[in-house]
Amino acid sequence: MTATAPIPQQSPSARLSAAPAAYPAPMYPHKATEEQHRERRIRSFQPRRGRMTNAQASALDRSWERYGVPIDGTPLDLAELFGGLPVTLEIGFGMGETTAAMAAADPSMGILAADVHTPGHGNLLGMLERDGSQNVRLAAGDAVILLRDMLPDASLAGLRVYFADPWPKPKHHKRRLVQASFLDLVLPRLAPGALVHCATDWEPYAEQMLEVLSASPELENLHPEGDGTGWLEPADHPDGSVPGYAPRPDWRPVTKFERAGIAKGHVVHDLLFRRR
Ligand SMILES: C[S@@+](CC[C@H](N)C(=O)[O-])C[C@H]1O[C@@H](n2cnc3c(N)ncnc32)[C@H](O)[C@@H]1O
Repeated sequence: MTATAPIPQQSPSARLSAAPAAYPAPMYPHKATEEQHRERRIRSFQPRRGRMTNAQASALDRSWERYGVPIDGTPLDLAELFGGLPVTLEIGFGMGETTAAMAAADPSMGILAADVHTPGHGNLLGMLERDGSQNVRLAAGDAVILLRDMLPDASLAGLRVYFADPWPKPKHHKRRLVQASFLDLVLPRLAPGALVHCATDWEPYAEQMLEVLSASPELENLHPEGDGTGWLEPADHPDGSVPGYAPRPDWRPVTKFERAGIAKGHVVHDLLFRRR
């Protein structure tokens, strides 16, 4: 890991006065704009019920200004936001336990953590406050818009998608996040060498992820030998290559949805690819 400057700790008011004009105090996005609501794009999330607890709401009040980035279409300057740290985008952090743990375990990596789920926003902020983490920014809203409109090319050192909504019914497969058109959005945003890490407990989605990621000549599977499970049929790969799943990396903590999947007897697959 390269040594990088820490993000300076600032009170909300200090951050405001130090912020350049391009970064006014971020407004918490309560809902998508009318335009975002109507446009055609992958809708990979499902509205989830769940009221915020008082603790989550207070954390949102206290710390949104410090950590929050609204997904409103405004281009971001990641060097400014993260004080020069390399930045990994995590899409769909849920309640944020894994995000907080990975951020604390590696302060040299910035994490731009995106989700639409409001209680999760408050929950993650509470954990960042608790840990004093300075290497996370919370992007509130649809990560598809973030990728499409707000991130510069070659700006990401990594992408994490852990236990994305599996959309099991065939009529909903078009809503799966990891599909060819999503990769078209992602690839230009990845810097050479960027790590793409997906994990899922839904076997058919794991197969789809393998097919989509393996089909890109711009990505290299770091575990072409596989982990001994879930290999695709060789007939799918007339050139003789048989892409494989990665052994579970010990630096990925068990996530909340992963625990639920394991309790149901699901097999978990990790996929690790590198941008050439
Ligand atoms: C099944 S949950 C998994 C949460 C967490 N990663 C875990 O493993 O416990 C999937 C999460 O992805 C979020 N999500 C799905 N599509 C998204 C998108 N396009 N932008 C932001 N968040 C998204 C959902 O709101 C949800 O919180």
